[in-house]
Amino acid sequence: MYFGACYYPEQWPEERWETDARLMQQARFNAVRMAEFAWTRLEPSEGQYDLSWLDRAIDLMDRYGIRTILGTPTAGPPKWLMDLHPDIYQQDIYGRRKGFGARRHYCFNNSTFHTYTKRIVTQMAERYGSDSRVIGWQIDNEFGMIDTARCYCDSCLNAFKAWLQQKYGTIDAVNEAWGTIFSSQTFRSWDEVHLPAYAVHQHHNPGLALDFRRFSSDSVCAYQKLQIDIIRANAIKSQPITHNEMGKYNHIDFYELSKELDLSSLDIYPNMKSEPKDRPSYAAEQHDMTRGFKGGRNYWVLEHQSGAPGALTMAPTPVPGEIRRWTYQSVARGADAIVYFRWRTLPYSIEELWHGILQHHGDPGRKYEEVKRIGQELEKLAPLLTGTTVKPKVALIRSYDNDWAFELQPHMQGYEYIKHIEAYYAYFYERGIPVDILSPEADFTKYSLLITPNLMMAKESTVTALHRYVANGGCWVADFRTGAKEWNNQMTQKRLPGPYRELLGIDVEDYGVIEAHEEIGIHDLSTGATYRSSQWYESIELLPLGSPAQPMAVYTSGYYKDTPAVTRRAFQKGHAFYIGTVLEKQGLYAILDQIVDEAGVTSLIPNLPAGVEAVARVDADGGGREVLFLINHTAVEAVVSLSDSWSDALSDQQLKGPLVLNPQDVKVLHQPKTIPMLFG
Ligand code: GAL
Repeated sequence: MYFGACYYPEQWPEERWETDARLMQQARFNAVRMAEFAWTRLEPSEGQYDLSWLDRAIDLMDRYGIRTILGTPTAGPPKWLMDLHPDIYQQDIYGRRKGFGARRHYCFNNSTFHTYTKRIVTQMAERYGSDSRVIGWQIDNEFGMIDTARCYCDSCLNAFKAWLQQKYGTIDAVNEAWGTIFSSQTFRSWDEVHLPAYAVHQHHNPGLALDFRRFSSDSVCAYQKLQIDIIRANAIKSQPITHNEMGKYNHIDFYELSKELDLSSLDIYPNMKSEPKDRPSYAAEQHDMTRGFKGGRNYWVLEHQSGAPGALTMAPTPVPGEIRRWTYQSVARGADAIVYFRWRTLPYSIEELWHGILQHHGDPGRKYEEVKRIGQELEKLAPLLTGTTVKPKVALIRSYDNDWAFELQPHMQGYEYIKHIEAYYAYFYERGIPVDILSPEADFTKYSLLITPNLMMAKESTVTALHRYVANGGCWVADFRTGAKEWNNQMTQKRLPGPYRELLGIDVEDYGVIEAHEEIGIHDLSTGATYRSSQWYESIELLPLGSPAQPMAVYTSGYYKDTPAVTRRAFQKGHAFYIGTVLEKQGLYAILDQIVDEAGVTSLIPNLPAGVEAVARVDADGGGREVLFLINHTAVEAVVSLSDSWSDALSDQQLKGPLVLNPQDVKVLHQPKTIPMLFG
């Protein structure tokens, strides 16, 4: 387990470094992240490299038992470089060059920038690739953030054409895939291909627009690969390569980005102005997504909130105990490194309000003391956690292609793909049922329950895998718009739900939007309860099959009144469920309760009190160890009822029955039977 902070020696007088190292050591740090924005100090002018200050910083930290995760500095190309080669700047949809003054101002497809990138990365990789004081590499920093994943310059146009040639072979195939006959948009040659830049309105051909998103994401992956290759050629085995990814954002396909990485990483700021502070499932979901980027494997947190975030105005400061409970949430969900952002709050520049562990003055205060306590606790917990991971029985599929397709055309007012995923996620979070969030291409055979929210398009291989999954005994939940589109983003011409009609045993006879003023409901046939549905309906006919689908709920109004809204079908050894409308929370939860039951999935803690999070890490290789984390995210006491006997890993007390969790408090419990295996 790594524990530490982001440290920027280039921003502080060298006389101060040792004080910082000493304080870090006292807080049980064993890692710092450095250098990811230090290009101008590493190469002050073209070809003049100076890594001596970084040598001294790495060395000093090592003397205090702290190892270094090195960031390549490419997210901040220096001014001299941009002045020499202004064509490196990204261009926006209006063809305007984005200028200097922020960060991430380079185009991923610019070959001049590739040359400079290779040079600086080679310098670092050759210097530190065999240095065991360096324990890992972060490539660049938060690819795609602040709207930088897509660029509209000539380098990108040329690269886009090459990407299309590779994918489609001929221009006629492009015309066909996109349906360019509409509005005379047909291309006669590759020369005529354009980017979805500024047009009369921004509603470009959906095929073109989706391919451009895919291409842009691939461009980031290719740029990352260029750096990975250099580092991998130089790095020793103990230096994994990672990137600080961004959970729920969709500007890049993070499954693809993670393929070449040794492990995925996350930057997590639970208290942001944009996110409700009382929704800890928001942060939990980011963790589960990051674990899923590599198919359900542990990851690092390379930026962990430790103070109030803010650029121009500030988000809430973490109250006492809050850094601790967010840190435990991270560890509980599979983080094997916690690196706080940042060690000390900077007194200048655009992040002077973005607070770290130490305030501007640099003296240890209450946040430092809290971090120190966490450091001591994690030191004690490390042997218990080593070799454990989260192993859910439920998988939730999140697809970037579908996310992008819905972003381009949401189909209904107020719809957001990611919010729809969140609605399912919230159910499992609140019920204390662990979930993996996976790519549609992941191996989901080992899960008892699989949910594919709005899987509007899918590759053939996914369609086949879903059929096999259900046939072999899995419970699959599909919902509205499933199968409605082909992979090229055209509407399917098959009857809906496309390739899953037989499997689900249904025909979506008609569909449409539900307007805000309409009163549409569903009647749950098992409980008799009625729930509101909104935004979208699909009226369903049950196919006359040998073992037909059964209705679970029917509509209470609309011209489709009494037709099935939710169905289930037994198919070979498994079950396939279909939800044809957007259900209000209680309705969705009631339906999911029935499905979860059917799938034999249970909560870690039945009747989990609101605001209490329950997650477990278990032996990755199938041993019997189970470490249960209970986190009280509320400002009031909560009582959890333990049916088994557990050991409190921090106090070593034996616990059973009602367990009181103080406000903001955390309990880490493990089964007594696991002790001999751990230490013996
Ligand atoms: C992150 C970024 C860091 C720092 C932090 C606070 O998104 O990776 O470099 O800028 O935000 O603003």
